[in-house]
Amino acid sequence: MTNEKLNIGIILGSTRQGRVSPQVGEWVKEIADKRGDANYEIIDIADFELPFLGTTDGSEPGIAAWSEKIFSLDGFVFIVQEYNHSISGSLKNALDIAVREAWGNKAAGIVSYGGAGGVRAAEHLRGIFGELQIAGVKTHPLLSLFTDFENFTTFKPADLHFENINLMLDQVVAWSGALQPLRK
Ligand SMILES: Cc1cc2nc3c(=O)[nH]c(=O)nc-3n(C[C@H](O)[C@H](O)[C@H](O)COP(=O)(O)O)c2cc1C
Repeated sequence: MTNEKLNIGIILGSTRQGRVSPQVGEWVKEIADKRGDANYEIIDIADFELPFLGTTDGSEPGIAAWSEKIFSLDGFVFIVQEYNHSISGSLKNALDIAVREAWGNKAAGIVSYGGAGGVRAAEHLRGIFGELQIAGVKTHPLLSLFTDFENFTTFKPADLHFENINLMLDQVVAWSGALQPLRK
């Protein structure tokens, strides 16, 4: 273990034009930055312009940059939105296309949203965590498109979520630190 702060990536799971995920990611980062216990960074899948896995020769610079970015992180917070009862295609592709060793022995929390809190998408993601050796923490803040957003577009989170975000971050930081020896 070192005394250096851990690097935790807040991954925006949607690349849809007009997406609400940046608002949610920025809110999580604002809460996280106030803690001072880790370096928190928003990671936008859209910035990497990832092709769909297997449809190119794999030489696009974004693919290597994406794996490098994931390797550089100690843990994750996934901002997850529900698409047809699962995660978005762009998040699944991003999970599949990175070098698989980049994900393993790291902890992750989920902040999800949807008509039913995005819970079905989040549970699908937990299954993927198992295959990638990502340790998913228990506390899972659920946001409602009906009550935490105005007109399904402007994010206005209820106060009650604040405590859960901090609990989830406590767990992500603790487990990301505890798994450090396995990442050496
Ligand atoms: C193709 C599609 C499928 C969707 N399926 C669901 C769903 O199964 N459950 C749900 O709660 N919301 C569903 N939604 C609503 C999205 O969760 C909502 O649009 C949300 O804002 C998407 O996140 P984003 O804006 O960050 O991309 C769906 C939206 C689209 C476009």
